[in-house]
Amino acid sequence: MRGVRIFLWAAVVVLAGVTAYLLFNRSLQKEIAEAPFGVPFQLVTQNNEPITEKAFQGKPTALFFGFTHCPDVCPTTLFEMDNLLKKVDPDKTKLQAFFISVDPERDTPEIMKTYVSNVSDRITGISGDPAKVMEMVKGFRVYAKKVPTDESKPDGDYVMDHTASVFLLDDKGRFAGTIAYQEDSAVAEKKLENLITRNL
Ligand code: NI
Repeated sequence: MRGVRIFLWAAVVVLAGVTAYLLFNRSLQKEIAEAPFGVPFQLVTQNNEPITEKAFQGKPTALFFGFTHCPDVCPTTLFEMDNLLKKVDPDKTKLQAFFISVDPERDTPEIMKTYVSNVSDRITGISGDPAKVMEMVKGFRVYAKKVPTDESKPDGDYVMDHTASVFLLDDKGRFAGTIAYQEDSAVAEKKLENLITRNL
């Protein structure tokens, strides 16, 4: 009889613990889902204007990370994003897009401007103080790593290995999905349309 009572008490304690954990976990998940994605930052646009995380609010946003020396992924993504934006938002009023450098040592705001404006007049390049840029990149959970193009010359030329997905944020700056590199363009278009519709 005593053994049964101890067992029941133990069960009550375990159950209470599990319930508390589940409630805590749920509130934590809710908080994460409702918070703006990433971290606060102070960087510079391609037009040498200050920009902070507040710029990713007010309108749904497409963000992607890369560098101007990128051989293929970044130019392709920039070009495709420009095409998609023209299709889903011809009036340039519903969506905004930013291209953030993961190679701020070489990508000054001026270089970003030349590079981005060559492809699109609706995507804004972001760069700035290299340490601050890399802090922001990390805060947005983007992978970026310097890879020397010639292993025998570690101080020579390099490329940046980096996350190739486009991040989608709603008009409160909250994470709303991704577009994968070379995602089917009809699917990508639908994702951007949904992003616009749910924020109307
Ligand atoms: Ni790239």
